[in-house]
Amino acid sequence: MARLFFHTLVLSTLVYLTTAIPTTRNSPSFLLPVHLKAKADIPSPLFPSIKTLTSPVISSFKPYSYYASAAYCTPNTTINWSCGANCDANSGFKPSAAGGDGTDTQFWYVGYDANINTVVVAHQGTDKHSIMALLDDADILMTPLNSTLFPTSTFPDSMQVHKGFSDDHSRTAIDIYVAVVNEIVANIDKTPSVTLIGHSLGAALSLLDAVMFVSHFPDWVHIQYIGYGLPRVGNQEFADYVDAHLVMTSDNGFWRITNKKDPVPINPGKFLGYHHPSGEVHIEETNAWDSCPGQDNPSSLCIVGAVDNDFVGDLDNHDGPYDGVTMGCD
Ligand SMILES: *[C@@H]1O[C@H](CO)[C@@H](O)[C@H](O)[C@H]1NC(C)=O
Ligand SMILES: *[C@@H]1O[C@H](CO)[C@@H](O)[C@H](O)[C@H]1NC(C)=O
Ligand SMILES: *[C@@H]1O[C@H](CO)[C@@H](O)[C@H](O)[C@H]1NC(C)=O
Repeated sequence: MARLFFHTLVLSTLVYLTTAIPTTRNSPSFLLPVHLKAKADIPSPLFPSIKTLTSPVISSFKPYSYYASAAYCTPNTTINWSCGANCDANSGFKPSAAGGDGTDTQFWYVGYDANINTVVVAHQGTDKHSIMALLDDADILMTPLNSTLFPTSTFPDSMQVHKGFSDDHSRTAIDIYVAVVNEIVANIDKTPSVTLIGHSLGAALSLLDAVMFVSHFPDWVHIQYIGYGLPRVGNQEFADYVDAHLVMTSDNGFWRITNKKDPVPINPGKFLGYHHPSGEVHIEETNAWDSCPGQDNPSSLCIVGAVDNDFVGDLDNHDGPYDGVTMGCD
């Protein structure tokens, strides 16, 4: 039932979104300012060496950090954007849908930010001890992507992800897809982009949304992803798909920000078959932000090199601060 409904919905959305936009647009005019700025200044993930970000580029992440943090607030406060400091930091935001119960299903919200002309989707994370438990050996089973949401023609069974993340993602994916399509349609004259945001478990859930959206939406819908403290989500084939469709393309954008000695991003271990996509930005002990090329850059300036194993990690770094923003609703 869900399957038929979703496939019909995807098809009609695609037809609508594909025909709604004239093909003769000049593409840079509808990219986000923040997206463009970051794009221009952040060295390409293909660039062979580590580069330090300038302070304007670091600052350009701040609105997204507050969006990630606001996802920890209850849906009854995100739906009317009354969640306090995290909401006030992006005061022009217009939410349109919110859900989750904060226990079985992480909180989430969807809305439109007119300042940067993007539809925002954010997922709540989980506390630092629960995320480590989820990434523990007992729970690291991988599974193919849910074929209702991810067509097997694009996502073969050999592409696999963490089963717990996949199950959690399946519970909200259709509601969020519908909310995002509604926002795109409501703002279609401005051809908005879509930005997926989250911290911790929320970063993993938003990554699965980003992959689902990039496979379903026409190319003019630019997708950008900003994840904080992202654990490894899938195998090499999954990481390569993310690289090909989100990281290495000029139209989309992908950044995963890792903080100091946070052990979460080095889990589950590579020896279990897990790999990160490229697009890492690492916050050093000095608070400098460095762009780390490659999928699991082993330099000590990047998370894999900075945190050899869980014992040298510092779980207190998981929540930030990310340029002054500590994740959580307060
Ligand atoms: C929002 O819901 C929570 C329970 O999820 C409740 O404790 C809180 O009082 C509600 N807040 C408002 C402003 O209604
Ligand atoms: C937002 O919704 C909550 C819960 O329904 C309510 O208590 C609060 O007054 C609302 N705030 C605004 C700014 O509308
Ligand atoms: C796949 O996703 C659909 C839609 O959310 C859901 O109904 C179904 O239970 C999911 N299947 C699995 C195996 O998780």
